[in-house]
Amino acid sequence: MASLTVRQLDEALKQQLRLRAARNGRSVEDEVRSILREAAGETEAPAQPAAPAASAAATSQARVLLIIGGGIAAYKSLDLIRRLKERGYAVRCILTQAAAEFVTPLAAGALAGGRVYTDLFNPDHEFDVGHIRLARETDLVVVAPATADLMAKMAQGLVGDLATAVLLATRAKILLAPAMNPAMWSHKATQRNLSQLKADGVALIGPNAGEMAERGEHGKGRMAEPLEIAGAVDRLLKAETTLQPLKGKRILITAGPTHEPIDPVRYIANRSSGKQGYAIAAAAAEAGASVTLISGPVTLRKPDGVNVIEVESARDMLGAVETALPVDIAIFAAAVADWRVANAGEQKIKKQAGAAVPQLSLTENPDILSTIAHRSKDRPPLVIGFAAETENVIANAKAKLARKGCDWILANDVSPATGIMGGDSNTIHLVTKDGVDDWPPQSKEEAAAMLIAKIAATIGKDRP
Ligand code: CTP
Repeated sequence: MASLTVRQLDEALKQQLRLRAARNGRSVEDEVRSILREAAGETEAPAQPAAPAASAAATSQARVLLIIGGGIAAYKSLDLIRRLKERGYAVRCILTQAAAEFVTPLAAGALAGGRVYTDLFNPDHEFDVGHIRLARETDLVVVAPATADLMAKMAQGLVGDLATAVLLATRAKILLAPAMNPAMWSHKATQRNLSQLKADGVALIGPNAGEMAERGEHGKGRMAEPLEIAGAVDRLLKAETTLQPLKGKRILITAGPTHEPIDPVRYIANRSSGKQGYAIAAAAAEAGASVTLISGPVTLRKPDGVNVIEVESARDMLGAVETALPVDIAIFAAAVADWRVANAGEQKIKKQAGAAVPQLSLTENPDILSTIAHRSKDRPPLVIGFAAETENVIANAKAKLARKGCDWILANDVSPATGIMGGDSNTIHLVTKDGVDDWPPQSKEEAAAMLIAKIAATIGKDRP
């Protein structure tokens, strides 16, 4: 069989082929195949993009578009290409102009096993694949190294070259592996851009702390190692698939304690830190849900991409929850005070010599979870509560599930010895009408990720 390479054809013919391929939305190679099929008398297949990455998708090979930015860490990105290929990903590469000062397109292309894209205005590239197809025909975009300049442009939505055009045009998840001098990393401008990018849903790996390429420079700014980045790619692509059902779902979460006033300066509170509810909100937003977090008074940083509504008392919290309806899923993680002071003072209660100690009279607060779970109108299809217990954890949780009318209860033992209340870890028992699932002791972030994955799997089956 004779072998034919498009590259060996004369320039005029190549140009014609590119134009024809671009018109049909094919790669040049596929255009040639199609012409040959036609000439051999086969019926022509309908025009459709069939670049190497697209055919990879057909064989369920996940597609990673690696954008290599201009920094000394770019040399590590060559190893990253190998690591990604080892894992079976179809890898396409874009090199920024600055990156080409550190690594060559030839080296990146040889490792990726395909052409490397460098120029937005190169007609060869545009007619062959084009920046829009590069942006669309991928499951994940990785920017490594993500320089301060690239991050600033992304945060602003600026487009000046192929890399930034693709970053703006893609609908795929983006993972950044920042690498820069520690002073540049900690600069307020970079941190501001970083916050914006996180709020936009961009994922991050690194940077790590350590020796920098420049002599004597030390600090945070080293690019994560290729294996770490490949690990993050694995996790994100897995999450993209498993968490897909949560994309665009409206999730309402309550978190933290409530403060019940005694007078304008004093209140009754509890030891809840809000960490578990905040971790759930962060994980839900990360999964692409539209999250409203109704939070009692806490000292935590607001999770990126979450609409946080701050309240004080149980009654404020109920009002905010009702205003946020309808939602698809409601998770009640707040440690709501069961009672409030019935005779709260309008003015500060004063000590008076010889006078009796003031007596607080308590009255019951509304049960927010139970109120929402028993609504006939706008009851969220999946209502999840917590059970904070100090004894008979499972039995009490089962009773709460029935009494409050919710679908799932996450029960945990909040006895002081467990350190769960206010601490960083949690041991959860998921109680549903189908039984009890004991989760391992884990960080509150891990517990949140497990809950979000469980919800995604459940609504994915379309049956809460
Ligand atoms: N809850 C609520 N409103 C309340 C009290 C509790 O929404 N006024 C919710 C909590 O957010 C949690 C669940 O109900 O999801 C169980 O809270 P928990 O404190 O464990 O139970 P209580 O209802 O307070 O019952 P008890 O104090 O008797 O254990």
